[in-house]
Amino acid sequence: MADKPTYYITTPIYYPSGKLHIGNSYTTIACDAEARFQRLEGKDVFFLTGTDEHGLKIEQKAEELGTTPQAYVDDMAVGIKKLWKLLDISNTKFIRTTDDYHEKAVQKIFQKLEDSGDIYLGEYEGWYSVSDEEYFTETQLAEVYHDADGNVTGGKAPSGHEVQKVKEESYFFKMSKYADWLLQYYKEHPDFIEPASRMNEMINNFIKPGLEDLAVSRTTFNWGVKVKNNPKHVVYVWIDALTNYITALGYGSDDHRNFDKYWPADVHMVGKEIVRFHTIYWPILLHALGLPLPKHVVAHGWLLMKDGKMSKSKGNVIYPETLVNRYGLDALRYYLLKAMPYGNDGVFTPEDFVDKINYDLANDLGNLLNRTVAMINKYEDGVIPTFKPGVTEFDEDLENTAATVVTNYRELMNSLHFSDALSEVWKLVSRSNKYIDETQPWVLAKSTDEADQAKSASVMNHLAESLRLLAHLLQPVLTQAPGKILGQLGLSAQTVSLDELHFGTIPAGTKVVAKGTPIFPRLDAKEEVAFIKAQMTKTDKKKGRAAMEAAKKAVQTADEPELKSTKKPIRIEAFDKIELKVAEIKSVDHVKGADKLLKFKLDAGDGSDRQILSGIAEYYPDPSVLVGKKVVIVANLKPRKMRGEISQGMLLSAEHDGHIQVVEVPNSLVNGSGVE
Ligand code: ME8
Ligand code: MG
Repeated sequence: MADKPTYYITTPIYYPSGKLHIGNSYTTIACDAEARFQRLEGKDVFFLTGTDEHGLKIEQKAEELGTTPQAYVDDMAVGIKKLWKLLDISNTKFIRTTDDYHEKAVQKIFQKLEDSGDIYLGEYEGWYSVSDEEYFTETQLAEVYHDADGNVTGGKAPSGHEVQKVKEESYFFKMSKYADWLLQYYKEHPDFIEPASRMNEMINNFIKPGLEDLAVSRTTFNWGVKVKNNPKHVVYVWIDALTNYITALGYGSDDHRNFDKYWPADVHMVGKEIVRFHTIYWPILLHALGLPLPKHVVAHGWLLMKDGKMSKSKGNVIYPETLVNRYGLDALRYYLLKAMPYGNDGVFTPEDFVDKINYDLANDLGNLLNRTVAMINKYEDGVIPTFKPGVTEFDEDLENTAATVVTNYRELMNSLHFSDALSEVWKLVSRSNKYIDETQPWVLAKSTDEADQAKSASVMNHLAESLRLLAHLLQPVLTQAPGKILGQLGLSAQTVSLDELHFGTIPAGTKVVAKGTPIFPRLDAKEEVAFIKAQMTKTDKKKGRAAMEAAKKAVQTADEPELKSTKKPIRIEAFDKIELKVAEIKSVDHVKGADKLLKFKLDAGDGSDRQILSGIAEYYPDPSVLVGKKVVIVANLKPRKMRGEISQGMLLSAEHDGHIQVVEVPNSLVNGSGVE
């Protein structure tokens, strides 16, 4: 165990100055998928994320809210940790720059650099934007104001925020001294910045024009790490922030075993707007400290909305909680990793989000599982036949596709090409679906010919093997579906090394579940697009209301032409008499002497269990699959007795072509909630 190779991956530490949105969630989920993947590859992974809690913006935000900066960041950090829990983020550690060990280490680092002469005291004058927390030179300003004599009196930063002239005593870091060293380092490590195009950007836009010494302290605000021997200065954000990657491992503390073990980092993953800090300032800082550099800084683009970058003022923000609660975590994780092309920007649209769930997850993957489980039940009495190579003329091609997909997938995941890795996985999904069309198992199964029977068995085995591989390949990205897929196949969900992902390993006698449930229910596209659009504009109340109305209208007009009903129209008052509630199925049993009846015990938030009898036994050969499911009940139906048992309500179920299924609702709904 001791000599497992290590893998250290980090997210940026996020500013807790507002609620995190799906943009920040992208970076964190991407790092999480990589961390999970590297664990499958047998690495000893350290995965770090956290919050960047100092600075003027936080100080001002707290003041606005009438609280202290510490109380404010404490509160925000709780929320952010909760979000990462909801998103199943498997981080090893969560660092906050207000953590005591970090602050102490920052002071030591600062002192060390001052002692070595890399940090010196000087005076800073520049145009400062509070919102951006950044100084600008006059030429960098997007707009400049003049007085009557032509003197510059103010202006606007590239972000559009106002700037003001600030002059202050400041410590500086001698960046300029290391420019040539950095260029040489780039030359010798061409894969230090990825994608490589970003390296040229850094060289041409920032290093070649000349590196200026960097102001690394401020006297204009208080909320930060104090410079130890000159405490009117606080350490300015970038030294405080960037060093989190080493202080989290214990650098500058007594216990630095993690630092010795995991540094240098394998990957710092960052958004494109902070590449400069991570590939110019950070390497120089590390070099000045005599430390090795991270192996890779990987820059991704932005997840944009149709009208540009997400921002609260535009009212186009979408929060991860909204999507997870409605569509499940796997839907969000899949969408984000698929929608962001490597190194480039991606665009979020509600339509694309819903399409990716419906096509990729529900249709392609979900149906493959449903069909496979149903066919194995129908043709093989539920038992997965054992593997034999080359029985049908299509077997070998499927096996080869699987092998190629596994190889390519590993390469792509190793180089953090998430979207491409998922496309690769879906090649096996498509190949498997095509394999069903090619082999036509329903024809083979009808034949009494022995060769055809053998073929049919082989097809069932190959489909199950394929799904087993898919489940394992998807484990880093989806945290719930793989277990469900393996469970429906009757296989254990234990992790499998990627070296073992080949056909022919399903144990003889493995029995699939009697009845599979769809792992990704198909969404009503129109309705869900309208729902997401309404959520997107909710931040702005007025706009939100308008969008809600529009959304409602969209749903209505969508439904109008196809309103089909077999019953007489009723007034809303009639419907109001019916009390519908969310309930969770605690247990289910057959009723003695009544073939058709199932007896459910439910938690409908009443304080004690409710018993409901339902005549759906024939549709659930293994009713235990329903345990733990949330359903909707009619709660105010007069209790009645059937076969000597009491029934306190009715379970809603749906009928199609003579087949009945209980209506399930998301597990996030609270037991006893009213449904209307
Ligand atoms: O910059 N699309 O923190 P921050 C994709 N504290 N990624 C996005 C995104 C979007 N629309 N919006 C944000 C900071 N991100 C500093 C970092 S690190 C030592 C200090 C992600 O809260 C992306 O990773 O502004 C981006 O770099 C990061 O959030 C910025 O987070
Ligand atoms: Mg930022």
